[in-house]
Amino acid sequence: MSKKVIDQFDFLVIGSGLAGLNTALNLAESGKVAVVTKRCAEECNTKYAQGGVACVIDHDDSFDEHVRDTLEAGAGLCNEAAVRTIVEAGPDAIHSLIGHGAHFTTRGELGDEEHKDDFHLGREGGHHRRRVLHSGDVTGNEIENILISAARNNSNITFFENHISVDLITTKRLGWLGEDRCMGAYVLDSASHEVITFMTKATVVATGGCGKVYLYTSNSEVACGGGVAMCYRANLPIANMEFFQFHPTILYDFNIHSFLISEAVRGEGAVLKRKTSNGNLVEFMDKYHSMGSLAPRDITARAIDSEMKRYGQECMYLDIRHVSEQELKNRFPNIFQKCLDSGINMSKDLIPVVPAAHYSCGGVKTDVKGFTGINGLYAVGEVACTGLHGANRLASNSLLEALVVARLAADDIKSKFDALKQDYPAGKTPEWSSGNATDSDELVVISHNWDEIRRFMWDYVGIVRTTKRLERAKTRIKNIRKEIEKYYWDFLLTPDLVELRNIACTAEIIIDSALMRKESRGLHYNADYDYTDPGLAQSDTIVQKPYLQ
Ligand code: SIN
Repeated sequence: MSKKVIDQFDFLVIGSGLAGLNTALNLAESGKVAVVTKRCAEECNTKYAQGGVACVIDHDDSFDEHVRDTLEAGAGLCNEAAVRTIVEAGPDAIHSLIGHGAHFTTRGELGDEEHKDDFHLGREGGHHRRRVLHSGDVTGNEIENILISAARNNSNITFFENHISVDLITTKRLGWLGEDRCMGAYVLDSASHEVITFMTKATVVATGGCGKVYLYTSNSEVACGGGVAMCYRANLPIANMEFFQFHPTILYDFNIHSFLISEAVRGEGAVLKRKTSNGNLVEFMDKYHSMGSLAPRDITARAIDSEMKRYGQECMYLDIRHVSEQELKNRFPNIFQKCLDSGINMSKDLIPVVPAAHYSCGGVKTDVKGFTGINGLYAVGEVACTGLHGANRLASNSLLEALVVARLAADDIKSKFDALKQDYPAGKTPEWSSGNATDSDELVVISHNWDEIRRFMWDYVGIVRTTKRLERAKTRIKNIRKEIEKYYWDFLLTPDLVELRNIACTAEIIIDSALMRKESRGLHYNADYDYTDPGLAQSDTIVQKPYLQ
């Protein structure tokens, strides 16, 4: 039984990507913030975002057009009010980021002397205009570094790195009467294996995505669905988890299998092609969508998957050989170098690509301020489902959402801070109870279970689904979850075990959500229901653990 309690912070932020750090920086204006993060603070999905931040900047663009592209990509499932709030807050959010020192590429940097002070705007799938602000092709990394340094220099923010949150502390789960209230979280110190009880007036879950639930993914090692799983166990509604976005163009290289070739490359004119058996190249995207290679992501990933299966090919190709080496190096320095490391010169060679798991459009259901419905508990960023993305996220809308919703969440918490202090349950410290923890050789089972889940999720719950495959996945995940609960309670708590438990829980929620949606829409395609049911537009899939009576 651990006795360590940390109660000197006002706010707990779980996760250190863009959403978490932006919330922490805003909250730090009103109190002391603890930021708990699984590895070093820099490791998160934000760091790998290449494309940029979608935002209405160009005079010829308009909020209405950005809203329209978002709704179109979202395939009838977006919350239009949330979309409008986030899109319209974009320019202010960008300016605050620039205030922290973020740099976005200008047209001058790419050789356009006439408009040298204007931002260079990229274009990605589903956008009818150029509207993506970017920092070269490493936008997420630039933003992450700027915010980390601002947070590390803020005396009201303390990082707890190599600490992994295990569960949220909510009063109803503890069996207490009255309205449900979040009191903080149990957090495992990865080095000492001690579980610490964090007691805070407000808790913000900003744990990012869950791409590691799939065998092939563009995501960071830390993206294990921890936030969704913890919020599910805290009885919160989890929405639309069947809508998992597969990025169409991951570099096909035996050694990497996770490196993105940004959609912005297609925005600068790259075309998707298939090689025929006699070595000719065929463009195929016009068959699938009027925007061709710049179609929304769901359509592009499914088209690639279909061409690969139909013609028995291991990959498709991006062709941008019409752009000069110098221009490619200026616009995509990181991608150019990564391709070169794999023996591909983008200006001379085709780039082999395959789809891989990239972004969770569903998540913990919240309003546009990140409020979950449980007093004192918020979720922001990829872990949350505000209704912005609907059934398919428009490219580069996620960094925008993380920026805007983080600030709205912090403002909401600050406005309720007095009430949150007053109604905080006094005098009770609910300590973590770890069962009969002992070490065990059996922990080898963990890595086996982990591999098994990721493989059957890829095979059975991927880009194209059938009810039979989903049911097969459901049977397997039920067995694995039973095993995990046994190991979880019987053996020593380790970070691997916490992550496995979260991956398994998130996988089951994805499977259940996919089984519940009896149509095909956006990213969810079930060959047994290969049509969109107009009656299910605006109808969220909700998975929620019932409260014990
Ligand atoms: C990309 O650069 O293609 C990824 C951008 C995104 O996922 O929004």
